[in-house]
Amino acid sequence: MKKILVVVLALVMVAGMLAGCSGSGDKDAKTVGVLMPTQSLQRWNQDGANMKTQLEAKGFEVDLQYADNKVELQIQQIENMITKGVDVLVIASIDGSALTGVLAEAAAEGIKVIAYDRLIMDTPDVDYYATFDNYQVGVIQGTFIIEALGLDKGATGPFNMEVFGGSPDDNNAYFFNGGAMDTLKPYIDNGTLVINSGQTDMSQIAIQDWAPAGAQNRMDNLLTAFYADKNIDVVLSPNDSLAQGIVASLKAAGYGSADKPYPVLTGQDCDKTNVKMMIAGEQSMSVFKDTRTLAAQVVDMVSAILNETSVPVNDTETYNNNKKVVPSFLCDPVFASIDNYEELLLDSGYYTADDLK
Ligand code: BGC
Repeated sequence: MKKILVVVLALVMVAGMLAGCSGSGDKDAKTVGVLMPTQSLQRWNQDGANMKTQLEAKGFEVDLQYADNKVELQIQQIENMITKGVDVLVIASIDGSALTGVLAEAAAEGIKVIAYDRLIMDTPDVDYYATFDNYQVGVIQGTFIIEALGLDKGATGPFNMEVFGGSPDDNNAYFFNGGAMDTLKPYIDNGTLVINSGQTDMSQIAIQDWAPAGAQNRMDNLLTAFYADKNIDVVLSPNDSLAQGIVASLKAAGYGSADKPYPVLTGQDCDKTNVKMMIAGEQSMSVFKDTRTLAAQVVDMVSAILNETSVPVNDTETYNNNKKVVPSFLCDPVFASIDNYEELLLDSGYYTADDLK
């Protein structure tokens, strides 16, 4: 009897020690390096903040860095994290093709890499990808244009349209464009939608770094060259930051008046500035990508990697980075406009009413 008691006590002590080792917040907690491209765009601040809160709630330590849209700085940040010995890297890249070298170093150290929102290209050393369905974002934008102009109800226009593209170093930009242009193609082909500049190729329409100023500049040039004697009816903008620049240009050219109404203008992200623009009638729609959902998904992936359980993915076909198809989890993007933003953004607690004043 005594012997049994001793054995039981010993087991209890061992169990206690083991529990002490694996408890969160101790010096053995795993560290996750989170790299975001820039703080200049609202969404990445939210993405970073959500990731940090949710990872810490699971007991992970977090090293969160922003790179001011500078590719070299992001590479340095990744290198520092490898040296410090992080356990997993979560990277929203600036230039998706510039990380091949540094990720080879990460792989050599056995560090797993999750591409966040933007696919990392031209490397075998990216393990997973979590994003929103980027092609579907474009489909939502294209479908909105069709319905806003009544093309599905037989309206024949013709309507004057111009097309903008995202940053050429961001793989997402091609998916947004593909989804929207595939959807609009029948109406471009039959002459209902007329692109007076003739510029549709990404080499002509892409805006480096998604910069509002770049979009404003291109819109200024288009208005001067092709719309001196006619109004523009539609602008396909892939995201909100470009829509900001486009509206600035339209305003300066006198749009927003009775004889020059604002064109139908798309966007993406539901940035606060752009929700206000929708309320003011300057932008027609946006696409809501709830950064809380994406962060939660990535946190699940990180946990699965570190616990060596199977990592949740729902797409193993779409995202080829030129070296391999990267197993992905695609979240659902959601249509947003003046008609549903309250429910979508306020009732869900994403923004407060004050945020949109
Ligand atoms: C993201 C968009 C964002 C854009 C500019 C893209 O990769 O998917 O949500 O608007 O980058 O930051």
